[in-house]
Amino acid sequence: MSVIPLANPKAQYLSRKKEIDAAITRTLESGWYILGQEVERFEKEFAAFLGAECCVGVGNGTDALALAMQAVGVVTGDEVITVSNSAVATIAAIEQIGAVPVLADVEPQTRCLDPQHIEHLVTSRTKAIVPVHLFGQPAPMEDIIVLARKFGLKIVEDCAQAHGAEIQGKKVGSFGDAAAFSFYPTKNLGALGDGGAVVTHSHDVADAVREAREYGWTTRYVSRKPGVNSRLDEIQAAILRAKLPYLDVANAQRRDIAQRYEASITSHTIVSPRKISGTVSGMHLFVVECEARDRLREFLGKEGIGTAIHYPMPVHKQPAYSGRLRGQDRLPCTETLSEKILSLPMYPELTEGQVERICTALQKWCRNEER
Ligand SMILES: Cc1ncc(COP(=O)(O)O)c(C=O)c1O
Repeated sequence: MSVIPLANPKAQYLSRKKEIDAAITRTLESGWYILGQEVERFEKEFAAFLGAECCVGVGNGTDALALAMQAVGVVTGDEVITVSNSAVATIAAIEQIGAVPVLADVEPQTRCLDPQHIEHLVTSRTKAIVPVHLFGQPAPMEDIIVLARKFGLKIVEDCAQAHGAEIQGKKVGSFGDAAAFSFYPTKNLGALGDGGAVVTHSHDVADAVREAREYGWTTRYVSRKPGVNSRLDEIQAAILRAKLPYLDVANAQRRDIAQRYEASITSHTIVSPRKISGTVSGMHLFVVECEARDRLREFLGKEGIGTAIHYPMPVHKQPAYSGRLRGQDRLPCTETLSEKILSLPMYPELTEGQVERICTALQKWCRNEER
């Protein structure tokens, strides 16, 4: 029995091989490999896709977060409120710029930043909020924006897992002062290497990121401010341009697969991701909750189905961070979730036969559990 992998970036490449190969060849033959026409065009196309004014391509999603925060004014010592229920990159980016992560709990329904847990964390040093649209599910931006306005805080959305997700018909990444995207190969819009972007409505913020991504240069070899080297390369930009036109359709295919999984989950022992009214999930990951998570994982493994836990340890429990992050003592929902969550394979290239096998396995588990 072949194992169905949790993610399959090669299948994604093969599904668009012709367009991607042509994009790579075009770039190779252009003779221009760093910050050229492909990056410029991708930036315009991705901003238009999101309904945002500006986009600046950078080296990866972690840098996108760090550069976006700096561009909206976060400086060393400032506090940034975010969640522990995320890729470690969210918190690493805050510390990368010398700022201080402060952790808020998440909502049980969206599994994203809980607006009710923000206010008591605000101090005179708080500068920004970084909501993470986790697993493709948009965070409750309306309430977060109200709080940000009340306390004069900036918002940098972490959209690394939510390309194309929507709230009331508006794409995430267009709500905050800036947003950060990752194009890691397994993301909904994935490159074939590292890549990232900062998206914003503000030309000033975009200009600041554009300078900072290349040594602080305003003109070549002249640095106005200290910067870094974090550039999206031409080949990755060309690949992303080849894939972007299919993103909405690919996300809809993910949601169709999710619906079929949901229909197969007939036992209360597994809880599917909740539908949140007014939002459209990018369905980056299909993450169920199950009290018997480890047993479910073992069962699916025996059925040849790859699974993963995103993430087995919230960031504040990981060795590099444990015992030293503010807010870490009041994260009951974050901690409960980390013991129950399990990610099932979720990508548009899953074959009919693979989806069928996963549905059959889920049905079998449910039948056994309800006995
Ligand atoms: C929520 C979240 N934020 C940030 C990142 C960082 O992106 P990258 O791996 O491109 O640096 C990731 C990617 O893993 C992520 O999932």
